[in-house]
Formats: sequence, C-alpha cells, structure tokens
Amino acid sequence: MWDPATYLRYGDERSRPFFDLVARVAADRPREVVDLGCGPGNLTAALATRWPDARVRGVDSSPEMIERAVARGSAVDFTVGDVRDWSPTPETDVLVTNAVLQWVPGHEPLLSRWARELPAGAWLGLQVPGNFDAPSHRALRDVARLPRWRDRVADLLRDDPVRDPAGYAELLVGAGCAVDAWETTYVHLLPARDVIDHPVLRWMEGTALRPVRSALGDGPDWAEFRAELGDRLEKAYPVRAGQVYFPFRRVFCVARTGARS
Ligand SMILES: C[S@@+](CC[C@H](N)C(=O)[O-])C[C@H]1O[C@@H](n2cnc3c(N)ncnc32)[C@H](O)[C@@H]1O
Repeated sequence: MWDPATYLRYGDERSRPFFDLVARVAADRPREVVDLGCGPGNLTAALATRWPDARVRGVDSSPEMIERAVARGSAVDFTVGDVRDWSPTPETDVLVTNAVLQWVPGHEPLLSRWARELPAGAWLGLQVPGNFDAPSHRALRDVARLPRWRDRVADLLRDDPVRDPAGYAELLVGAGCAVDAWETTYVHLLPARDVIDHPVLRWMEGTALRPVRSALGDGPDWAEFRAELGDRLEKAYPVRAGQVYFPFRRVFCVARTGARS
C-alpha cells in the first residue's frame, strides 16, 4: 500500500526530476497526455497547466494515490489501473512515466509495445531511480538478508530493477524512436535538525521501504528492522551542520516515435 502523505514528505526533491524530464518533451499541441503511475497527482496537474488544450489522464494502481489525486480537484481524469494493462489511444501524443517502472518487473517489453502503439511523432518520457547500488539501497538489502529477516523480506528487494540510459536508448531506438537519454545525480540536502529519525530513513519510508513494511506489519518487527537500517544509514550519511548530503542518481529517457507505415 502506498501512503501519499509519506511519499510527499520530500515532495520538492522528488518532483525535480519530473520537471527535468518533461523539459525535454517538446510536444506543441498534444491531443492527449497520459501520466502512467501518476501517484498523488500533483505532477500530473503540472502537465495540464503546460498543455491546457490537451485531455490529461493519470493512471495509478494504488487506490490511495488516486483518491488523493482526485481530491486535488484538477481537470485531470484520474483512474485506478495497472500500467501493464494500459494501451495508448490514436490521440495519445505524450506519455510520461516518472519514478514508476522500477516497480514493474519486466517493463522493457512494455516500453517497446507503447513505442510501437503510440501515434507517429508522439513523445514517451521515462525517469527511474538509478541508485540501487547506493549506500542506502545496499544497507537496505544487507539488513533484509540478515538471518532474522531473510525469509520474510529478502526476496522483495531486487538488486537492479532498471537499465542505464544507454540501455533504455537502445531499447527505444530498436522500437523505431529518436532518443535522448541521460543521467543526473542530484545531491539532496536533507534537514536533520528537527527530525527524530535519520532523514534518509524517512525518505526511504516513502518508497523503497514500502514492501518491507507491508511484509512485517506495523508492530515491533518493523520497528526493529527500521532501527537496524537507521543505524547503518547514520554511518553512511553522517549529519553535517544539521543536514545530510544524499546523492541520488536518476536515469532519464525521452523518445519520439517514428513515421507509421
Ligand atoms: C514513486 S511513485 C511516483 C509517483 C509519481 N509518478 C511521481 O513522480 O511523483 C510510484 C507510483 O507508481 C505506482 N505504480 C507502481 N506500480 C504500478 C503499476 N504496475 N501500475 C500502475 N501504477 C503503479 C505506485 O502506485 C506509485 O503511485
């Protein structure tokens, strides 16, 4: 289950890659714009502001996220759905999927299918975290593999669920697109003064830690796991002058579909 409030804790930092992604989507007057895995809808609403004449849709498999998105009261059409079941219409000129595909095992064939089904000249923009080898995620996998937790959580965490920029570029060139792919490492400076828990732990609670929490429940097991991970994160990301430096690599790919025969 996704918790929109926990996810939005670092909303400013989390939204920046979205804007860096869509800055490279040069659609002029798209007819339909779709945000797949739209989450709480705050960023989808920005798509409606940018393209006011487009029909803008947001799709997410989490009813909690869609409830939050609908409650915003924008002109966007939000629906609960799985991205794996989604197909473009003949008018889908822009498809954006931001920080979603890392949760979708085997998403590569999906990307190829979308690229082939979208109309000619459509734009497909994706962004995924590329930090699965960062100290935060290594610490998470190390704790999950301790004998105490291994049987219940180790299999929930994949070592590397995404490709690098060249990998996505090759995939989408293979589907007949013109491609722009890159990576950026943001250094998020997270305040540590007025929070009890380590800020990287708080960040991870909104995303990467979600499956672990679901498996362990909200009781003492979760508290113990969280404390163990918190200790490791404190060493990996020490507090300096009241803040933590949290480097976060992100992978981007923007593709434009070719002519249709
Ligand atoms: C990290 S959030 C990103 C939300 C939003 N795109 C943003 O950038 O703020 C990931 C979202 O992907 C959604 N998601 C994960 N797997 C999905 C799937 N198979 N189909 C639809 N949505 C999915 C989750 O429910 C969650 O809202």
